[in-house]
Amino acid sequence: MVKICCIGAGYVGGPTMAVIALKCPDIEVVVVDISEPRIAGWNSDHLPIYEPGLDDVVRQCRGRNLSFSTEVHRHVSDADIVFVSVNTPTKTCGLGAGKAADLTYWESAARMIADVSVSDKIVVEKSTVPVKTAEAIEKILSHNTHRRHGGGGGVRYQILSNPEFLAEGTAVADLLSPDRVLIGGRNDTPAGLAAVAALRDVYARWVPPDRILTTNLWSAELSKLAANAFLAQRISSVNAISALCEATGADVAQVAHSVGKDARIGPHFLSASVGFGGSCFQKDILNLVYICECYGLPEVASYWREVIRINDYQKGRFVNRVVASMFNTVAGKKVAVLGFAFKKDTGDTRETPAIDVCKGLLGDKAAVSIYDPQVTGEQVSRDLAMNKFDWDHPRHLQPITGTDVAGQVAVAADAYEAAREAHAVCILTEWDEFRGLDYKRMFDAMHKPAFIFDGRNVVDVAKLREIGFVVYSIGKPL
Ligand code: NAD
Ligand code: UGA
Repeated sequence: MVKICCIGAGYVGGPTMAVIALKCPDIEVVVVDISEPRIAGWNSDHLPIYEPGLDDVVRQCRGRNLSFSTEVHRHVSDADIVFVSVNTPTKTCGLGAGKAADLTYWESAARMIADVSVSDKIVVEKSTVPVKTAEAIEKILSHNTHRRHGGGGGVRYQILSNPEFLAEGTAVADLLSPDRVLIGGRNDTPAGLAAVAALRDVYARWVPPDRILTTNLWSAELSKLAANAFLAQRISSVNAISALCEATGADVAQVAHSVGKDARIGPHFLSASVGFGGSCFQKDILNLVYICECYGLPEVASYWREVIRINDYQKGRFVNRVVASMFNTVAGKKVAVLGFAFKKDTGDTRETPAIDVCKGLLGDKAAVSIYDPQVTGEQVSRDLAMNKFDWDHPRHLQPITGTDVAGQVAVAADAYEAAREAHAVCILTEWDEFRGLDYKRMFDAMHKPAFIFDGRNVVDVAKLREIGFVVYSIGKPL
């Protein structure tokens, strides 16, 4: 029986391994993590992440061929294939701070693999990493093994790059039916080819052969960064156009639809918004920018940096619109924020645009009342008290010096409570339930003039104006 161990039981490690276990009942899959609460969550009825359909998959496999454990060393030692799916955040200090990927967690996982391994292993990069990381990992693994075995022979490793392309909120569907699975390896050696074939065999149980792509290591590593950069670039492109729409009277939804009808452009990923969020787009583009700078390609670096600049501009533009519309001050005014997660169908708030918008409003002394169906009050307080980039680093190392929000922030049980006696409503996540709200009921309970600022284009502007709201919707005629 093949044994797989995945280091890192997060948003990627958990769902990915659950689907592998589901589709390969003859493979034993163990997901390990240094975080005890995370593993306890995976072993409970309340999984540590909210992802539609995931409970079902885990319930079918857990206890059969899927387990979650904090016994990292034992399970890594036993495994034939070790996936590494640890976090690779942006560095907050030292060389490359604010841009480069922090590979501390990756390196410590690699050193641990070298320390505990007594049999040959395929080590799979699942995390998103800078190009050429596999080379560094190879060095760590082979040097440490060499040392442990007194300089002779010992354990042999094959490193593969198998980046993950799932999106949160649709992770299970994406894993069950991926557009492609990418496997990069040393395709110039028999051992490298055998390792690629071994991993391909795992995915081939449910992924059609033409969707399993094999490349060299560096192409696989770079394809992941490039894919995220292209996706984020589409959003920044449509968001840039949204500003022009507002200035000219064009409607961004109509423009995006017309542009997307061109088969060469395609209709997906062209929804204008308050800005993209999530743990990866910004960090991966910054990582790309840093790599370009390191390779002496400043023009390429600045091209990609603009994608983030437009995203920051879009978030700032939204806050300015709110404040300017409300007679240039929101001081002491209650503003309801509907949605705090970075997108619908997830409780994840990493780099959510809601943090920047709320901080902007709080900076202008608004009283903010937040409702999100999947985000707890505790999470909101943590996020609003944190500095940029700090969310993925150990808390005890980080001074909390962010906005002091005591007294200015409340968390509501539903959208109506959030909007009661508010001057304005800001919609920051496109949760389906926000489309079907009784806006007349909200309007009746709000101060007048009652404003709605829709950062996700979920409301029917004409209907809301009929009710009496002053409505601003991204990229729509004012
Ligand atoms: P995450 O923070 O949710 O999970 C990472 C886990 O690794 C944490 O639980 C942490 O405790 C654990 N960990 C860190 N160091 C460890 C060690 N030495 N030993 C054992 N466990 C350790 O992160 P994530 O969202 O799952 O992302 C993981 C990687 O996948 C990142 O590189 C990310 O860029 C990439 N990725 C993420 C997504 C996504 O949608 N979140 C999608 C594709 C790729
Ligand atoms: C994204 C990619 O879609 C995945 O392929 C990739 O694996 C993943 O990043 C990663 O590497 O972490 P994710 O961040 O989970 O997935 O979610 P997306 O659906 O891509 O949305 C990202 C952000 O862009 C969200 O804030 C979303 O609201 C926003 N968005 C998305 C828009 O503003 N407009 C759009 O048209 C699409």
